[in-house]
Amino acid sequence: MKTKLLIIEDEKITRRSLSDILDTEGYQVFSAEDGEEGLKIFKEENPAIVITDLRLPKLNGIEVLSAIMSVNPACKVILITAFASVDTAIQSLKIGAYDYLTKPFSPEKLISILRNIKQLNEIISENAELKNRIDTLESKTIIGISDPMKKLVQTINQISHNDSTVLIEGESGTGKELVARALHKASSRRSEPFITVSVSSIPESLLESELFGHEKGAFTGAIKQHIGYFERANKGTLFIDDIDDFPLNVQIKLLRVIQERELTHVGGNQNVSIDVRIICATKIDLKKKVENKSFREDLYYRLNIIPIKIPPLRERKEDIPLLVEHFFRKHRAEDKIMLLTNEIFAKLQSYQWPGNVRELENIVERMIALSFSGQIDVSVIDLDRHAKGNLLGGEDLSAFRSFEEYIQSKETLIIEWALSRCSNSVTDAAKLLNIPRTTLTSKIARLLPRLQVK
Ligand SMILES: Nc1ncnc2c1ncn2[C@@H]1O[C@H](COP(=O)(O)OP(=O)(O)OP(=O)(O)O)[C@@H](O)[C@H]1O
Ligand SMILES: [Mg+2]
Repeated sequence: MKTKLLIIEDEKITRRSLSDILDTEGYQVFSAEDGEEGLKIFKEENPAIVITDLRLPKLNGIEVLSAIMSVNPACKVILITAFASVDTAIQSLKIGAYDYLTKPFSPEKLISILRNIKQLNEIISENAELKNRIDTLESKTIIGISDPMKKLVQTINQISHNDSTVLIEGESGTGKELVARALHKASSRRSEPFITVSVSSIPESLLESELFGHEKGAFTGAIKQHIGYFERANKGTLFIDDIDDFPLNVQIKLLRVIQERELTHVGGNQNVSIDVRIICATKIDLKKKVENKSFREDLYYRLNIIPIKIPPLRERKEDIPLLVEHFFRKHRAEDKIMLLTNEIFAKLQSYQWPGNVRELENIVERMIALSFSGQIDVSVIDLDRHAKGNLLGGEDLSAFRSFEEYIQSKETLIIEWALSRCSNSVTDAAKLLNIPRTTLTSKIARLLPRLQVK
């Protein structure tokens, strides 16, 4: 993409010739003949560079410069002065001009200034990219001083250089994906793709073609060839999340791919060889599924070559302080770490953490967001309410006599909301809720018999 550049110059000949030169230099050039028009174009196009004459009709160069700096201080402005007025030049640099030129000037002089700008921009964007990379690296660090976590990090280092299949077991939010990514990053496959596939989010009927790909016309709706997850992860790592949800009838196919390191597209007949390291994750004990015959034993042993168990957070509470500090840094609030008190830590230690590390991270984010005037309000860490809130919006379920009664109270609320949004028109409310009008009418008769509706 070309860099946008705006020339503001009232002398027609100078404007034209500058425009031609810079066009040849590869810029996308806009031009204006007075300050007002210049600012208008600036606001519409947001050019990266503006070259403006100092003496202009309507607004002068200094006024234009100030306006530009207040809109986009990163814009590089070059001022052109007709006579060497050192005062004005210095003034313009103070306001934020990048450089100035004294008339008459050679095109080479201008071009050399523009080259400097280009180099500067490259350095700035390189810097931003590096910073970004460091940030992502940091957020992949596995934090923990408890024995199981120390052992886990050790295991990761030990197995990073072989291609054995790994099965990660842990409750929700314990860091299974984080560990899988760390394994990938520590392996020689680190610069190849890391692809995640969550079995529970793919409908059973599509799983096979999503994993192994399909040929055009393999089934109704297969309008073109589709490359599956395995092939996309080629040379890298495939992270299969929720492997316990893997349907029994497709398990045999997965076993074959793992054993033979080759696959066949759905609707195809050619073997495609693949080189993929497989890491699986499960929230439940897969062995139990094997025992009750909903998971193939042979596949289980294939996947479980190296088992990694991540214990729930409540069994390693000594990790909490370090994790809390880590999340303050991760969410760019290191300056607030000092606001943490013993009282806060005691609260965090006494909680059971059903949502594990993810829940702790959420709480830390709330602490950061809700810390005002130099302190963290301890009531922010109202953990019991927080836990219920995840499921029931903070409601006390014991207030309802039955499941049916609870559902009805929710239905009533939703219907009241829809009707009030639609000025009590049943037809419109039914459309809003996307249910038949007759259904809504009978629900209203049952749940809100006294309500006047249209
Ligand atoms: N030991 C740890 N050190 C630092 N951050 C962690 C740790 N464990 C988990 N996290 C962070 O907690 C969050 C949840 O982790 P992750 O997504 O890996 O969990 P998960 O086990 O895959 O959860 P789910 O079962 O719900 O998919 C992420 O933001 C992750 O970076
Ligand atoms: Mg996960």
